[in-house]
Amino acid sequence: MEIKQLIKKALCAREYAYAPYSEFRVGAAVLCSDGSVFTGANIENVSLGAANCAERTAIFKAVSEGKRSFEAIAVASDMDRLIYPCGICRQVLAEFKVPVVIAADNKGNYRVYKSEELLPHAFIEFHTSKEKRK
Ligand code: THU
Repeated sequence: MEIKQLIKKALCAREYAYAPYSEFRVGAAVLCSDGSVFTGANIENVSLGAANCAERTAIFKAVSEGKRSFEAIAVASDMDRLIYPCGICRQVLAEFKVPVVIAADNKGNYRVYKSEELLPHAFIEFHTSKEKRK
């Protein structure tokens, strides 16, 4: 799967955005290690805090279909400049070890980042006080 193809899928997914409040459409496409691709769009809610970003929609779709290993995610919006995942999405990228983020614009121009660059020192494990006592 080429980077350009993954961006194209993200741009197509953007068409399904449900964004009546922000009117800001975002699309994402996550490439799984088995070659499959899951797409997602942002889904808003009248209770604004209940909005879900495109990146999380794509990743959650993949995870809920049994995917656990990922290669990259592409994200694009209606803007003619690159878009980057929000903080919550960066945390989700860290959880599922999506190693590469392709930030794209509405024309398909892009830059490639390591997820580590976008969220250094990510919180990826914890132990309970119970385990600590062992
Ligand atoms: N949004 C995304 O879907 N992805 C991002 O990377 C940033 C923001 C959405 C959330 C909300 O629906 C709208 O964009 C405005 O914040």
